[in-house]
Amino acid sequence: MLIATALLGIWAGGCQGVRTQSMLHPEGPSAEKIATLWWVMFGVYGGVFLVTLAVLAVALVSRWRERPILGSRFVLVAGVIIPTVILLAMLVYTIQLSRQMSGGPADLRIEVIGHQWWWEIRYPEYGVVDANEIHIPADTLVALELSSADVVHSLWVPQLAGKRDLIPGHPNTLKLKADRPGQYRGQCAEFCGTQHAMMAFWLVVHEPGEFERWVRQRQRAVGAPAPEPLERGRQVFLEVGCATCHRVEGVSEGLIGPDLTHVGSRLTLGAGVFRNTPGNLAGWLSDPQSMKPGSLMPPTYMPPEDLHALVDYLRSLK
Ligand code: CUA
Repeated sequence: MLIATALLGIWAGGCQGVRTQSMLHPEGPSAEKIATLWWVMFGVYGGVFLVTLAVLAVALVSRWRERPILGSRFVLVAGVIIPTVILLAMLVYTIQLSRQMSGGPADLRIEVIGHQWWWEIRYPEYGVVDANEIHIPADTLVALELSSADVVHSLWVPQLAGKRDLIPGHPNTLKLKADRPGQYRGQCAEFCGTQHAMMAFWLVVHEPGEFERWVRQRQRAVGAPAPEPLERGRQVFLEVGCATCHRVEGVSEGLIGPDLTHVGSRLTLGAGVFRNTPGNLAGWLSDPQSMKPGSLMPPTYMPPEDLHALVDYLRSLK
């Protein structure tokens, strides 16, 4: 049963379709060490399991024949000494690997604050605030400084690093590096309430030059006033109450929900849950509770033309 489960796991992990979020397909040095440790543990403990089954078979045969095959010395060596040696060796190996993962001084510092159920992302060195997407340059050691605004969350991007908790009142740091550009899905890995499973994010890795461009684009204030066809949407944003909870640089200062200054360029809505399309955005604005029950976002009732204007305006915030 155990072996069948393990083999099923490997088979599933090997499928192209489920590579996203597979720690068996590492894309950075920390994750590579974790994957290596996984394979070594699988080999060693799988071997121990098979040997144990063989010894059990021999013991059954000896009982059936009523003639002892395995003496008391065998029990001492195989039952106490060998397991102790194996466990100690694995302990030393694991400690050594985890020491190597702590990594040296980081080249980029990013603050990640967990909320029920979304991620606030701050780049203090660049004055950029974002949500539910972490952007980093490839081949650069990044320190994610983790904290929480409410309950315990845990940040995990299986293809890049191990997971680390975001604990209220207890700052943590997770260092990671990505080998090459790509998009890696991350997930909250500590139960934090009804929408814990819907607390995801994307970690986007850029070529270093491309990352600088991304930062400059984020630093550009979108501010007020909006160009004419979007001005109505901006008015709706201020009138129906979005501005109370959400910040848009130069427009509103709400701090309860995610910063929306660049919401139009995000990959997803609702913390990694829905693709950022006009339809999903309209649905989210009208009835967020049916899309993500329990989220703090209230439904907003407005005439269809206002909803369209608001969707156009939010999508223009890039
Ligand atoms: Cu946040 Cu689970």
